[in-house]
Amino acid sequence: MRALAGLRVVVSAGPTFEDIDPVRFIGNRSSGKMGFAIAAAAARRGADVQLVSGPVALATPDGVSRIDVRSAAQMHAAVFAALPADVYIGAAAVADFRPRAPATAKIKKRPGEDSMVLHLVRNADILADVAASDVRPRLVVGFAAETDEVTQHARAKLSTKGADLIAANRVGIAGRGFEADDNVLVLHWRDGSRTLPPGAKTALADALLDLVQERLEA
Ligand code: PMT
Repeated sequence: MRALAGLRVVVSAGPTFEDIDPVRFIGNRSSGKMGFAIAAAAARRGADVQLVSGPVALATPDGVSRIDVRSAAQMHAAVFAALPADVYIGAAAVADFRPRAPATAKIKKRPGEDSMVLHLVRNADILADVAASDVRPRLVVGFAAETDEVTQHARAKLSTKGADLIAANRVGIAGRGFEADDNVLVLHWRDGSRTLPPGAKTALADALLDLVQERLEA
């Protein structure tokens, strides 16, 4: 099965870490498993796969070229450096905000200080920027990780981010979403939605790519 031979696929995976000072950061629970499974499945189908990964503890899948990044800004730059591509799949859990001015030395508690304010600024949206770019891939796929009103938020992301497909997953439930080996994905296209059979992220990655392939061939 080399159905993606000759195509370039860029996949983002894992969390981003936004430094507060040299020892602390803002991050999230993404393990990278979902994005790595997609990158592996695309490589098995013969695609030229560039994986842009946040800090994770996973081995690089066979046949995949990987670049490691830490922050959202680094991920943005690495994704754009990997373009042009035929398909972009943004499975990374990118931090929406970063500390405005990371401290260069460890922030110390002062006597009597019982609260502190961290000023955050917005990170650029990689998915939206890829979708709006001059080198827009033929298919731009994003994810939506939501704890509630999953469908509404996912469908809103289709238009606000300019994606062709949003793969929605509920997070905050044990055994799926962040960190787990299994997941439940509902795919939202502009012309309809489809629930994939729940199961291992590896199987879901293949099911997702089957439909991506269908769209590329349509
Ligand atoms: O890594 P795992 O432990 O396997 O977990 C998998 C997962 C839950 C992380 C994955 O399935 C998933 O949902 N990834 C997207 C998580 C996320 O950040 O969703 P979001 O709803 O906040 O963002 C929506 C989309 O915009 C995503 O495609 C995200 O990559 C993208 N985005 C968000 C913010 C930003 N600044 N730039 C972006 O590109």
